[in-house]
Amino acid sequence: MGAALLQKPELVKDILTALVRNFGSQLTITAKVRLLEDEKKTLELCQMIENTGVNALTIHARYTADRPRIPARVGLIKTIVDKLTIPVIYNGDVFSYQDIEVAKKMTGCHSVMIARGAQWNPSIFRSPEKGGMVPLCEVMREYVEIAEKYGNRFGNTKYVCIKMLTGRKYWCKTDINTKFQVSKSYEDLHRGLKQLTTEQMQMHIRNSNRNNLQDLNADIVKSALSNDTTSTQWFDNKTLENDIQDYCDQSVFRSN
Ligand SMILES: Cc1cc2nc3c(=O)[nH]c(=O)nc-3n(C[C@H](O)[C@H](O)[C@H](O)COP(=O)(O)O)c2cc1C
Repeated sequence: MGAALLQKPELVKDILTALVRNFGSQLTITAKVRLLEDEKKTLELCQMIENTGVNALTIHARYTADRPRIPARVGLIKTIVDKLTIPVIYNGDVFSYQDIEVAKKMTGCHSVMIARGAQWNPSIFRSPEKGGMVPLCEVMREYVEIAEKYGNRFGNTKYVCIKMLTGRKYWCKTDINTKFQVSKSYEDLHRGLKQLTTEQMQMHIRNSNRNNLQDLNADIVKSALSNDTTSTQWFDNKTLENDIQDYCDQSVFRSN
């Protein structure tokens, strides 16, 4: 639901009521909202949405004016969820498989929606028992092969590749990213991906750095949980990003 619509609860009610009345018996109908700055109004909005008969509600834990870099306001979700009876889906800043359970625990939500984390590496949904996240180069190679096979528009495939590569800054300042940026055909993308193969070593080192960062992240989560905090975030996104950048800059391969 767009920010403007959230300011018009009567219209929201009309739209959802009509959807449920006309399609509710054939389709699952869900809604997605951001938080309003007034907590009471947010709760009223969510309860009104629930009463329209939708099957589930996603709450993106940011105010309508918040930019994506503002940490998700996780601490504000549980009191809303506790007062609703339909399944609530948590959304905001979930970047690893491990974070899914933590987010559910902190918010009481039934499940989690992931946007950027899945855009950066869709294998985020692969559980540790099944091997965990697949290295980005493998994911990208398979993605480009499938995209080409099924005739996806080149410009779109290139955009997705660049988003994957630069999502968490690991590869922003690399030759390989430049290659993707200037690519003009699937052939160019394949050529770039070949280079990614030769850079596998670098990749693994960066992955292990990332794992360290996930541990750091987990520690912050643990301390947040143990203090039963009403903190609006479960980790400091900015610190995390800076640390990743530092790791990349300090990489012995940085000078290559
Ligand atoms: C490329 C992209 C497209 C998006 N499109 C929509 C959209 O059409 N409707 C919507 O409600 N949110 C959209 N969002 C916002 C996400 O659904 C999500 O609320 C937000 O990115 C926060 O989740 P995250 O921290 O997991 O990224 C989009 C996000 C991204 C990155």
